[in-house]
Amino acid sequence: MVHFPHTKSHGMEEFMTDNYVTGSVIKRLREKKGLTQEELAEKIFVTSKAVSKWECGRGFPDISLLEGLGRALDVSVIELLSGDCVQNKNRSSNMSKSLVYVCPVCGNVILATGEAVVSCCGITLPPQEPEDSEVNLDEAESGIGNAHKINIEIVEDEYFVSLSHPMTKDHYISFIAAVGAGGVQFVKLYPEQNAEARFKIDGVKKILAYCNRHGLFEERINKFTKSKRSLKIIL
Ligand SMILES: [Fe+2]
Repeated sequence: MVHFPHTKSHGMEEFMTDNYVTGSVIKRLREKKGLTQEELAEKIFVTSKAVSKWECGRGFPDISLLEGLGRALDVSVIELLSGDCVQNKNRSSNMSKSLVYVCPVCGNVILATGEAVVSCCGITLPPQEPEDSEVNLDEAESGIGNAHKINIEIVEDEYFVSLSHPMTKDHYISFIAAVGAGGVQFVKLYPEQNAEARFKIDGVKKILAYCNRHGLFEERINKFTKSKRSLKIIL
């Protein structure tokens, strides 16, 4: 079965018809390119009537046409499906704004420098929205306490990151990552290991930790950590 990605909602009608390229996206991209329906049809070997039908929402282009359609409209298939200009946004992005996608079936982790339509094991994955790693009252009540608090210490020339989180087969921290503008340092963890990792300090803006049950948590490198660092350098 081919699984078509869900598109993010922009609050605009053209992006609300989820899962597949929409007529209004085709129309918008065709007009942007300065093509008539006939000219587009000719490029992808269909009739202008077919293009007209798609644009009016009375049918969808066959999946075998998507690649050619993307080429004719100067966008990637991903952009066609998401109805967005992924490329343009990515040019100005940096790694510190990376999005994390995690597959709930196989545990695959995908990092993207910008919005992407990501699917794994037949599931379209939404980007993870990190929660602040500060103590959560709901968690405290449910006995988890501050298990998702990301502790950051400076040890020698590295950040030593740890969480006092269970590391059982069913409930564990599956990765910790240090994210900066220029790159991501990523440490995969497994049950029975300690929930800890070391990272080179340079350029790190935030630390992410992912719990297989509770999702993604984030701790920003704060002034306190930085001041400790400068103190260490002075000493
Ligand atoms: Fe957890």
